[in-house]
Amino acid sequence: MRILQATSEFFPYSKTGGLADMVAGLSGALVEAGQEVTVVSPLYQGIRSRLPGLEAFGPEILLPLGSRDFSGQWWKSTESNGLVLLFLEQEHFYGRNGIYMEDGDGYWDNPERFMFFSKAVAQLAGDYDVVHVHDWQTAFVPMLLKAFGDRNDIPRTVLTIHNLAYQGQCEGARFEISNLPPEQFHQEGPEFWGSLNFLKAGLHFSDAITTVSPRYAAEILTPEFGEGMEGVLQSRASVLRGILNGVDYDEWNTDNNPHLAASYGPGNLSGKRECKRALQEQVGLPLKDVPLFGMVSRLAEQKGTDILIKALSAILGDTDMQFVGLGSGDLRLADELSKLQRAHPEQFVFFDGYSNPMAHQIEAGADYFVMPSRFEPCGLNQLYSLRYGTIPIVNGVGGLKDTVQDLTQPDPTGIVLEHLTVVELSNSLLDACAIFGTQRQLDMVEAAFRQNFGWDASCSKYMDIYQL
Ligand code: ADP
Ligand code: GLC
Repeated sequence: MRILQATSEFFPYSKTGGLADMVAGLSGALVEAGQEVTVVSPLYQGIRSRLPGLEAFGPEILLPLGSRDFSGQWWKSTESNGLVLLFLEQEHFYGRNGIYMEDGDGYWDNPERFMFFSKAVAQLAGDYDVVHVHDWQTAFVPMLLKAFGDRNDIPRTVLTIHNLAYQGQCEGARFEISNLPPEQFHQEGPEFWGSLNFLKAGLHFSDAITTVSPRYAAEILTPEFGEGMEGVLQSRASVLRGILNGVDYDEWNTDNNPHLAASYGPGNLSGKRECKRALQEQVGLPLKDVPLFGMVSRLAEQKGTDILIKALSAILGDTDMQFVGLGSGDLRLADELSKLQRAHPEQFVFFDGYSNPMAHQIEAGADYFVMPSRFEPCGLNQLYSLRYGTIPIVNGVGGLKDTVQDLTQPDPTGIVLEHLTVVELSNSLLDACAIFGTQRQLDMVEAAFRQNFGWDASCSKYMDIYQL
């Protein structure tokens, strides 16, 4: 099959979260399974210098957004495994300091930036059997294809929802940038209570819809998790499926990992102790053998960081524990985390920023990894934690619930909260401290190592959907 993956993030060239990892992992697995795969994404600042061999692909393109035309150029690179990457150059739209935002504020013209990208993708689509689009940024592609394309020539379209909280919603008047006839701004399409909603266009027009865990697929049919889209999703439930994300275990492994101070694995935890010591040294925490908790996260309402701050404030002073956090995003949350560090400098450190090496070092050096998400479509960090022998402490929602076995289950791999409250989270952190250094903890670490969330199984589920 010739498969086109359209995404606004692709690891290692652009990333703000798990979307980048997921598309890279799935694409690699599809290539390994013998498929012809092309990934398209915008040419953001800095990508060209990492890929000096980029070659122009096709002639310059010119596409309208309402009454204005914008030009663009595709650039091609082929990875050593045969995966083809196409990057869309449009300096004004993509040559910026951020991918979606700067200084905490989203770009005002994100609808234009990603409509332009979606139109360019739709132009390419005829050469493929399947076009797989991801999140709101590319969700308009199926509608553009069906509205403009020759109906015999339309590839199968699949939309994956990585996060329903982001829908690309803006004022209805901006439907003009689609250059579709005004009557197509309709309830059975991108119109949502008068607004223009990119994701909703995809929910109506794609042939199949997937999301990134079975539990999240069920949750989003309810008002609690549906973010206003539960009605539309219910109407398309027959084509909706939850497929768990895989992990790229070549990237996330504890053996000869260039980011880590030492190698370790099942039955050999001495390297993990070295990684812990190296992390303590690096962040300036006392070199004590106390429970060390880690967090690596976008700072956003979704991640429950506000609840975590309250839980830590309640217990830090009276508990022999340490915490290392890395995150960026919401400025108010970053500020509160910095305050916590000033209050407990011997126990708590927070780094405001984005660093892939440090994400690996925290995953490896910590004893426990905390993810108190309000909702979590899949979550990758808990999967990385399991592979790193670091016990995840998670809220029991979405992919977190699907992948972590609580202390109360046979063969536990983590601690799973039933309700996300300050009290329940504080108690879970204290439970983790209580089992620290016991056989129980060691058994959990070994059980965590045994989990396998590689791409094989999930890749073949996507292939089934592509072939339907
Ligand atoms: P989400 O996509 O909702 O942010 P996931 O758990 O699926 O959550 O994926 C998050 C990914 O982004 C992980 O690979 C994680 O290591 C990475 N990440 C998030 N924040 C940072 C950061 N500040 N520095 C480095 N990596 C980060
Ligand atoms: C989203 C979700 C996260 C998921 C990731 C990759 O950002 O928040 O749960 O793991 O996409 O699918």
